[in-house]
Formats: sequence, C-alpha cells, structure tokens
Amino acid sequence: MISDLAQSDPARYGIDGRTASQIAASVEGAVTAGTLAAGDRLPSVRRLAEALAVSPATVASAFRTLRQRGVLVTRERSGARISGRPPLAFRPEPHVPSGAVDLASGNPDPALLPRLSPALARIEPSGLLYGDHAIDPRLRAQAEASLSASGVPASHIAVVGGAMDGVERVLGAHLQPGDQVLVEDPGYHAVLDLVRAMALVPRPVPLDAEGALPDALARALTPQARALVLTPRAQNPGGSAVTAERAIALREVMQRADGVLVVEDDHAGGVAGAPHHPVAPAAGRWAVIRSVGKSLGPDLRLAVLAADAETAGRIEGRQRLGTGWVSHLLQRMVATLWEDPQVRARVQAASEAYGQRRAALLSALVAQGITAQGASGLNVWIPVREEETVVTGLLGRGWAVRAGERFRLDSPAAVRVTTSALTAADATRFAADLAAVLHASHGRTHPA
Ligand SMILES: Cc1ncc(COP(=O)(O)O)c(C=O)c1O
Repeated sequence: MISDLAQSDPARYGIDGRTASQIAASVEGAVTAGTLAAGDRLPSVRRLAEALAVSPATVASAFRTLRQRGVLVTRERSGARISGRPPLAFRPEPHVPSGAVDLASGNPDPALLPRLSPALARIEPSGLLYGDHAIDPRLRAQAEASLSASGVPASHIAVVGGAMDGVERVLGAHLQPGDQVLVEDPGYHAVLDLVRAMALVPRPVPLDAEGALPDALARALTPQARALVLTPRAQNPGGSAVTAERAIALREVMQRADGVLVVEDDHAGGVAGAPHHPVAPAAGRWAVIRSVGKSLGPDLRLAVLAADAETAGRIEGRQRLGTGWVSHLLQRMVATLWEDPQVRARVQAASEAYGQRRAALLSALVAQGITAQGASGLNVWIPVREEETVVTGLLGRGWAVRAGERFRLDSPAAVRVTTSALTAADATRFAADLAAVLHASHGRTHPA
C-alpha cells in the first residue's frame, strides 16, 4: 500500500537527522528496510523541517541529494515521492517455481554453449605482474578484426568485465549526476536500473523491429540529453535488429547531435542472428561493446570495447586505478575459444538454433492470432493488456515468463518470453495456452 507521510510523524518511518546527509541517509535506510516503499509521499520540505527542528534549507539539500541518487522523484503539486525503482538494493529476478518451464530468465541455452574445459586445459598462466600490458595481444588482434569486420573503427580497444561493465564505464567516463540518458523503450531493465543507480535520468526512445525510431530520437535529443544507449541487435526485450537503412538514418541524427555520447551494447554478438550495422562511431564520443556472454557463456564476464581515443583513454585510466585489468587468464581463454574452428562452428550452430526457436514461437503465436515481436536474439515480446494476469495465468499452466514492467518507461504492457531453449512442440503448446489465458482474461486473443 502507498503511504502518505504528509500528515504523519516522520519518526514513525525512521526519518531523522540533524544534517542534510543524515536525513538523506535515514530516508535511504528506510527504503532499504522496506519501511518506505515506491510511491510513498514524503512530507513537504517545510513540514519535515519543523518536525526535525532543522532549517528548510537542510531538508531541501537532503531532498536534492536523494533526487540525484534516484531515490526521490518530485512532481509539481504532488510533492516528493519515493521513486518507482529506487536504485538501492539489488532486485533479484522473480523466482521461477520448480516444475514450471523457465521462459523467463533471458539466459542462453546451456546446451548450446561451447564446452570450456578443453580450452581451459590449453591456457597457460600468464605470469603477468603489476605494470604489465592490460590487453592480451592475441585477444586485441581478434577484437580488432571482429569489430573492423562490422565497420567499427578499432584503433582504440579496451577489455572490460562484460557488456554492463562496459556501459557503466563509458557512461561514467563522461556523464555527471542528473544528466539525461536516452534509452530504448522497452529496453533492458538492468540498463534502466544502472542509469538510475548512477544518478542519471533515463529518457525513453521508442523503437520498432529495426531499432530506435529516428524521428523520435531526434525529438528526444534535447540539450539535457548527454548520452544514448543502443542495442544494435538481439534487443532485449523486443528483439529488434538495426538494419543497414535504419543505421544510416540513426547515424544522420547522431551526427547532428553535437557532443552526445553514443554507447552500443552488442551483448549477443555471434548468436544474435543478424548482422551488426553500427551507429555509434558516427558520434564524436562513442563506444561499441561486444560481449561474449551469450555466445561463449555469461560466466566468462568479458567484453571487448572500441571507442574514440578520449573515451578509451578515460576507461583505461580509470580501470587501472580500480580493478587494474581483466585477468589475462580470462582474456587468453576467450582468445583460445575464438581461435578454435570447432567453437566457431558451435557458435554459428547456436545462432541458427536460436533463430529457429524464435521463428517457431512467432509462427505458433500467429496461428493463434497473437501478434508479437522478435527479429533477432533470444526473446520474443508479446503485447498484452494486463501483464500480471497473463504471467499468473501462464504460471498456472506451467510456463514462467517475465512481466514487461521492469523493461518499460512509457511503452505499453507486454510480456517477455525467452525462446533460447524452447522446442517447436513446446512453442505450439505455449501459444495455445497463451491464447486460452488471453481469452479468459479479456475475451479475445489480442489486446485492444
Ligand atoms: C541488452 C543486454 N545488455 C547486456 C546484457 C548483459 O551482458 P553481460 O553479461 O556481457 O554484462 C544483457 C543480458 O541479457 C542484455 O540483454
């Protein structure tokens, strides 16, 4: 239930303190403890200042900090509320009950990942010491070849701990708290949460099967927008893949947007089932990140990154101060896997299997009169009227899928179905069950 603290005693909710940072910390603590929940309305600055016997300026400063950290949102007239997704605690994925078929996790099919043990047995310990080079020369050469083959200039390369680590490092290299970041809507929930956790403000850009819509992107590029995060293929959750034509249109828009950083998250490179038509290098500040998570396995935690000289330099400099570098054991492991013709054949086979599984579900849905999207990658996105009713109804029939809420800003309701391990027979059964659930919930198979 949403609480309105406007008239009640702030101490009941654990809000106290004499200084702005103490007050802000007490609000954060109450959110983490669950005493304050998303949507709860806080007292006005004046009332809270009276209740805590501090000046209104102190409370206003605490509220400013909480807004910058993404904990509070303030709207005219309705005052300050706890934000819908305060970036304080890690929100685990909803549990998939045992017995249910897991179409919820977004994971690659473990049976389609290459076996790592033969490569593990072949890699030699590097013996590297502090101060040595950050990037394994074999991995660098492969990253340069792979990115250049997609038309990405690869003269400045970094190696990072996966696509999300790359996105965080690139945004952190240029942005300040409060800056706006344009994100795909619907988009990957971890990107939305990361943007908020960095005290940045996500702004939605709608997309279709071919990627972000150029006109909508141009309109979203207000002077407050400092960065754009795009997925070139295997867009999560909608499955879009940027076509060659769309990439030209998006590059034109970004060439006019002086100083806006463009980050391209190629998280499923290799198994996306669509070519990579890059957009980011058209901008002055840019980075393209290619992760091995979906093709070689999420636990390798490695992505290669190409960027403009300044961005790459800042990333390397900051990385040196923190984690130092990505372990050369991992780098050699990825280089060894990338060089192995058997592994390359297996990745290609996985990409084809994912394409067939996605297509099988899409055609089973069409046969039931249900429209859905999924041009590439591991997921299919199905518009529905009521997400929770559909998720619960499907669970009752033994299927776990993901409600779209965490992936959306302004876009309409939908559910995400991960097709990576879905057989054709199961796709047919699933589509029939979904049709029955939709029919039971609103008397027709397609949302109004
Ligand atoms: C769009 C998107 N980006 C990034 C990731 C995570 O990539 P990594 O494991 O390389 O951080 C995912 C995982 O599903 C994703 O869907």
